[in-house]
Amino acid sequence: MFSPRGPSLGELCVQALSSVEHGYDLLAPKFDHTPFRTPRSILDATAEALSGLGTFDTGLDVCCGTGAGLGVLRSVCGGRITGVDFSGGMITQARAAQPDATFVRADARALPFDAHFDLAVSFGALGHFLPAERPALFAGVHRALRPGGVFAFPVGSPPPRTSVAHWVTLGFDAAMRVRNAVWRPPFVMYYRTNPLSENLVDLTAAGFSAESLDLPTLGHHPDGSARCRLVVARKRA
Ligand SMILES: C[S@@+](CC[C@H](N)C(=O)[O-])C[C@H]1O[C@@H](n2cnc3c(N)ncnc32)[C@H](O)[C@@H]1O
Repeated sequence: MFSPRGPSLGELCVQALSSVEHGYDLLAPKFDHTPFRTPRSILDATAEALSGLGTFDTGLDVCCGTGAGLGVLRSVCGGRITGVDFSGGMITQARAAQPDATFVRADARALPFDAHFDLAVSFGALGHFLPAERPALFAGVHRALRPGGVFAFPVGSPPPRTSVAHWVTLGFDAAMRVRNAVWRPPFVMYYRTNPLSENLVDLTAAGFSAESLDLPTLGHHPDGSARCRLVVARKRA
């Protein structure tokens, strides 16, 4: 599936019937050969937007996986960079690729950091959190940042109803709901449960001043809206 070095269809099915944590443990050695790793174009567009927001010292990649976001942190942070993820398998891969970064194995719904970071980023992971879990996630990131620190993550804007992507994401989420209704442990991954507007509301409630910026290099929908925006949430001093 995906590429000769990626997981087979059978392996993907076993992973999809596991918990999120164990599924990623199984997928970890082949994760970088799947489309689930955040693409270079999104990482570069994020790094470019962040470089216009000021200078940062310490950086945290929340749900770092194999470390895609650590390269972004390295390009905009002058100090120590840290990845946090609850999959030991993903952290093993990330550590091999980024030996000079620090890694912490923890659940992002209960982050173990206190006023330590100037910048936190997260890529490709928001769909693993139910809307009811976002407050705990955002509260933990808020706690992890120093006053004035920034939490940034890209979000895709909803594809038009006439596009293939609209129906693919709708179908994926429906299949996931059926899977989670009939199978334990659940595998939480939804494409359509994290709209930009709700993220901004929850970030504001968590104590951030939140806005979103266009990432124009990632293209536009036919109606002229940006395909991808960067949420930028600053911890109020
Ligand atoms: C799709 S991968 C994205 C990895 C990487 N950020 C990237 O963009 O390539 C999602 C990652 O989120 C992690 N994850 C999901 N839920 C988590 C949670 N509650 N706490 C910590 N990590 C979590 C998974 O283990 C996995 O490594």
